[in-house]
Amino acid sequence: MSDEILQRATQTHTLSKAEIVRLLSLENAEKLFVAADKVRRQFVGDGVYLRALIEFSNYCKNNCLYCGIRAGNTHVKRYRLTPQQIIKTAQQAVSYGYKTIVLQSGEDVWFDTDKLCEIIREIKKLDVALTLSIGEKSREEYAAYRAAGADRYLLRIETTDKNLYEKLDPQMSWENRVRCLYDLKELGYEVGSGSLVGLPGQTVESLADDLLFFQKLPVDMAGIGPFIPHPQTPLANEKSDGHFELALKMMAVMRLLLPDINIPATTAMETLHPQGRLLALKSGANVVMPNTTDTEFRPMYELYPGKICLGDCAEKCRGCVENKINSIGRFVAHKKGFHGDYLKEKN
Ligand code: SAM
Ligand code: FES
Repeated sequence: MSDEILQRATQTHTLSKAEIVRLLSLENAEKLFVAADKVRRQFVGDGVYLRALIEFSNYCKNNCLYCGIRAGNTHVKRYRLTPQQIIKTAQQAVSYGYKTIVLQSGEDVWFDTDKLCEIIREIKKLDVALTLSIGEKSREEYAAYRAAGADRYLLRIETTDKNLYEKLDPQMSWENRVRCLYDLKELGYEVGSGSLVGLPGQTVESLADDLLFFQKLPVDMAGIGPFIPHPQTPLANEKSDGHFELALKMMAVMRLLLPDINIPATTAMETLHPQGRLLALKSGANVVMPNTTDTEFRPMYELYPGKICLGDCAEKCRGCVENKINSIGRFVAHKKGFHGDYLKEKN
């Protein structure tokens, strides 16, 4: 039965909610991973896009229950790079061959629109694609960043279960998060979203809804992260058993539903499994986001415990990631890697 669903999904890229639930519930998902890998090769090729991640501030006004840098975590040593430091880090990343810079932070109000637009303009002079991942903003703010040159925006929906979202993200509204995603889409960004997998109270049915939500938007990129409990958060005593396997299945089904989007092999995957990112690349993923944040600041951006590469420098991470990618017969694509580029170039 699931063989027949897989066969059809690789050709039509449509699945009902019940079929998605069935695939996510598979005990042995090897055939699902093989199908996702086949669709990945056909629609985005063997190239892997690298995105240089700069974690530029761990200040955050929000209090998401799962997140290690939530405002309420008083144990966190806070840091904030200056605009000059951010631009310098981006220049370094470009010197290592990166074609995309991702600026990520908590929701830090110190970076007002003027400061951010100035940083965006300076980084865009480096001839790179620029992605922002800085949380919920007004439509006007998103429009200003876009006018300054930002190309992409990452904002995970985390979960499409509104009740669960508002329980885990107190003082935040699920409708506002959805509003942000639609505003970003209308403003012409490439939009990345995604889910946390394994949240307490999350059901397989709601994970299926997440995938259908990404297909409906539609997203240009989607990152699936296994939830990893952080000891200094209210969810400290939750478990992470099975989250890796479920996240891998989510990612694979997403590749079947949205065959040509960009899907990252997330860092959290490798925290839970030593081969996590390679397994993800073999199950539908085509993007890796190596950390290019200065080694001094990495330990302070602890969203979850056990984050990989904390003691490594950006140059080492760049080489290490490329070697890993080559070890599975894939290669680093030296391009900006916009959604749909591969198919356009092929035809
Ligand atoms: N502030 C921005 C935002 O809200 O989109 C970007 C930073 S936020 C820390 C980036 C992502 O980290 C979140 O979307 C969430 O999915 C992930 N994250 C937070 N806590 C996590 C945890 N305990 N385990 C795994 N991922 C986590
Ligand atoms: Fe703001 Fe996690 S609570 S980044």
